[in-house]
Amino acid sequence: VIVPVVLSGGTGSRLWPVSREGHPKQFLPLVTNASLLQDTVNRVSGITDQAPIVVGNDEHRFMLAEQLRAIGVTPAALILEPAGRNTAPAVALAALYAQRSNAEDCLLLVLPADHAISDVAAFQSAVGQAAAIAEQGRLTTFGVVPTAPETGYGYIKAGAEINGSAKAIEAFVEKPDVESANQYLRSGDYLWNSGMFLLPASVYLDELQRLAPDIYQACAEAMAGGAQDLDFCRPDAQAFANSPSDSIDYAVMEHTEKGAVVPLDCGWSDVGAWSALWSIQAKDDRGNVSQGDVLLTDCDNSYFRSSERLIAGVGVQDMVVVETADAILVSHRDQVQHVKTIVSTLKAQK
Ligand code: GDD
Ligand code: MG
Repeated sequence: VIVPVVLSGGTGSRLWPVSREGHPKQFLPLVTNASLLQDTVNRVSGITDQAPIVVGNDEHRFMLAEQLRAIGVTPAALILEPAGRNTAPAVALAALYAQRSNAEDCLLLVLPADHAISDVAAFQSAVGQAAAIAEQGRLTTFGVVPTAPETGYGYIKAGAEINGSAKAIEAFVEKPDVESANQYLRSGDYLWNSGMFLLPASVYLDELQRLAPDIYQACAEAMAGGAQDLDFCRPDAQAFANSPSDSIDYAVMEHTEKGAVVPLDCGWSDVGAWSALWSIQAKDDRGNVSQGDVLLTDCDNSYFRSSERLIAGVGVQDMVVVETADAILVSHRDQVQHVKTIVSTLKAQK
């Protein structure tokens, strides 16, 4: 059986000022009329009829529960982290929960709650291919053909064929420096890690125990000592606090020899920054995306998003302007990765 595991603990700081700590991007309708979280959950119907395990931050519990209720989904579990410890522990909590509540080993379809996919049928068929090799005990990734030397992604070098287009992973490099990223891109031998995984719960936990025993130990204790209150599953806070903070990519995928990759070509975007939204959204004949009350003359290749007031643009190129009630972002489209610097500065001032 395939059990969806939705990771919803991030803060989305590069999408400030729309995405805020109390209301991060996965809860916002950034691409469609539904939130990214709701789109993520809806996308798995057709792959499995198992209810999703959702792992998120305790502070967001009501938003999580309400957004799932609004689309008619009752989660198998809503696991609340008292504080984020990154994705290796988050997936471990879900795997331990799945093992506890299922007689047979399940395949966890790990999905970040904040990705956009335009071709859902292609995504579902890639999951089908992945299932065939995950069943053989492989920690399976979905590889996207890279288009730029992005340093915020993991890079996968595919090795020997396992079956069809599924390959073993020869090398996995998380967030390389820019020289390496350029080299990987030019070589044509590497794929981006999409950040979605199909993992046999038992194999993930065994590899975690071997490669990151402190994380495994802390999560096992947190689940053993945890509580179920109303609809929420609460791991023991003290035990979970003892877990090192690390991602599944650094803690497990870079080191395991059980990795595999299937190709993914489905209009995937991780909606990381405003430029990503500009890339995937409908544009006018001069390449501008306008959302809300926007009036333009002689502007090109820009992104405008208004929530309260009219944005008027005159003769600018490659801009990002995002207006909210209490803050306005004005940035060059090539510089939007640095928006998180503003967020850190604001935090430090508080
Ligand atoms: N529950 C929970 N708890 N979720 C978390 C936590 C946490 O502590 N930290 C992050 N997440 C969620 C985020 O909300 C996001 O949906 C997902 O896990 C991935 O975390 P990111 O922080 O966005 O990872 P990344 O973008 O730096 O890198 C990952 O994704 C890339 C593709 O977008 C890696 O898997 C890369 O290899 C990959 O290329
Ligand atoms: Mg991300």
